[in-house]
Amino acid sequence: MDLKGKVAYITGGTKGIGYGVAQMLLKQGMKVAISGRTQKGVEEAVQSLTDKDNVLGVCSDVSKLEDEVKAIEKIMKRWGKLDLVLANAGVGHFSPVDEMKESEWHQMINTNLNGVFHTLKASVEALKQSEGYYMTLASLAGTNFFAQGAGYSATKFGVVGFTQAVMLDLRKYNIKVTTIMPGSVASEFNGNEPSEKDAWKIQAEDIGKLVVDLLLMHPRTLPSKIEVRPTRPDLKS
Ligand SMILES: NC(=O)c1ccc[n+]([C@@H]2O[C@H](COP(=O)([O-])OP(=O)(O)OC[C@H]3O[C@@H](n4cnc5c(N)ncnc54)[C@H](OP(=O)(O)O)[C@@H]3O)[C@@H](O)[C@H]2O)c1
Repeated sequence: MDLKGKVAYITGGTKGIGYGVAQMLLKQGMKVAISGRTQKGVEEAVQSLTDKDNVLGVCSDVSKLEDEVKAIEKIMKRWGKLDLVLANAGVGHFSPVDEMKESEWHQMINTNLNGVFHTLKASVEALKQSEGYYMTLASLAGTNFFAQGAGYSATKFGVVGFTQAVMLDLRKYNIKVTTIMPGSVASEFNGNEPSEKDAWKIQAEDIGKLVVDLLLMHPRTLPSKIEVRPTRPDLKS
């Protein structure tokens, strides 16, 4: 399958994994819409992407269904179809549960969990038309739990369960559905500034390559849930 001219929407594409996936899809000749919460962040990301002619920036907060509906309308107006939706936008707050703020809990639920539903709700009819692909960016925290990760894990376990049930609902429309569950990825997640210290981590472009491989998979075959981890998580030991 040739990916040239296919249209993708990546939520949270202003930095980190979403930005890396956008770069990789543009290299395949795809048209890519990216979103983020601020106009400034979106514009800066669009300007720094290599193939600006094939990029559309949309300011949309995934925690608001109406934002996602408007984002999809803009994409359909510009390109007339939607072949891939990557529900990637996410945030993490990590602390012992007795210290977790209510606002942090709600931000994670509203972004990581409600957000993937909003993005799907807004795009599912377009995906039916194109017999497209819906992917979610979950995490290994969606199958492993750890201290100080109660809120984050709650959202990612939810994303994994949601996505697998969605896969069973939508495959009759020839829509493929996959959840990607990475371990540590070099990104701006949780205030990180990517540098040499992150060389052992999965790189955003590696997730981009994985997305391309999934898109190129034969139509009869669907890897519905993918765990991906650094080969050597701690190079010091
Ligand atoms: N990094 C890791 O080790 C890792 C591992 C497994 C899974 N993940 C998951 O991967 C996804 C991407 O994370 P990342 O590592 O790339 O983090 P990142 O570098 O912090 O990027 C997060 C992206 O999400 C956007 N975003 C946050 N809240 C949003 C909202 N309400 N509406 C729209 N966009 C929003 C941010 O855009 P603005 O700031 O411009 O709004 C940014 O583009 C997340 O779901 C995360 O949970 C990350």
